[in-house]
Order: sequence, then C-alpha cells, then structure tokens
Amino acid sequence: MIALASDHVGIDLKKEIMALLDEMGLEYKDYGAYTKERTDYPIYGARAARAVANGECERAILICGTGVGISIAANKVDGIRAVVCSDCYSAKLSREHNDSNVLAIGARVVGPDLARMIARIWLETPFEGGRHQKRIDMIARLEKGLDIE
Ligand code: RB5
Repeated sequence: MIALASDHVGIDLKKEIMALLDEMGLEYKDYGAYTKERTDYPIYGARAARAVANGECERAILICGTGVGISIAANKVDGIRAVVCSDCYSAKLSREHNDSNVLAIGARVVGPDLARMIARIWLETPFEGGRHQKRIDMIARLEKGLDIE
C-alpha cells in the first residue's frame, strides 16, 4: 500500500500519480488534501509519514508546490527518510543508497510526465543494502539522540 498526500497545490499532480499507480497495479490510500481550498502541507505530510512509520503503508509519495515543505514535515517522523526529487537519477539513488521511504515531488517544479518517470523509477528500484545499511543505521541512531562517531 502506497500512501499519497498533498496540499492544495499538489492535487492535480497527485491525480497523475494515482493514474500511474493504477497502471502499475499498486494500491494506494489518499491521506488528503481532497480539495484545492488553501491548507497547510505539514498536516498531510505528517499523516502519510505516520502511516509509513506505523506500517500501515510501505512507502509514501507526497506533493506540494516545491516538495520541500512537505518533505521537511515528513522527515520529522521517526523512521522516515523523505527525499525531494526533480530528476530520475536522484530518485533511483535515493532508493539504492538511502532506502528512501518517502518521495516528495514539487508540482510547481516538474511537469506531469517527468513526475511520473521519477515516481515509477523510485517505486521500482530496490535498496542495495550492503555498505549502505550501516549509514541508514547511523541515521536511526541520530533520531534517538545517540552518538554516531
Ligand atoms: C504553498 O503556497 C506552498 O508553500 C507549498 O505548496 C509548498 O511549496 C511548501 O513547501
């Protein structure tokens, strides 16, 4: 199950991502916003990020104007590794090296076709593990306020 969320700016691009997930045969749950009435991105970033952190969803795709605000909000939830991506290379490497579990996209930054490519690559790319796992573990220790060096 993929969690989806956006603020009012991201509604249209979120619908594009829903269409992509339908094409890919992936289930999703929309955590809002549901209308274009002005609202606040932290609400929706937090809802979807918490759904990932508590295991309700495997990963999340978040959309706001830049992808920045909603990713910052998501990253405040323990266990979340949210990345903003405007290119396919970062999306791929964020999975292979960083095991990113939340992808944020800026609806005012990338067009719908590029957003679909970014999301597809991010969804299809596995974490490489190996030497990268140690670094993920260090990030988890940081969350707990523990030393990492
Ligand atoms: C809303 O105007 C805008 O600030 C928001 O969508 C997002 O870009 C914040 O990072």
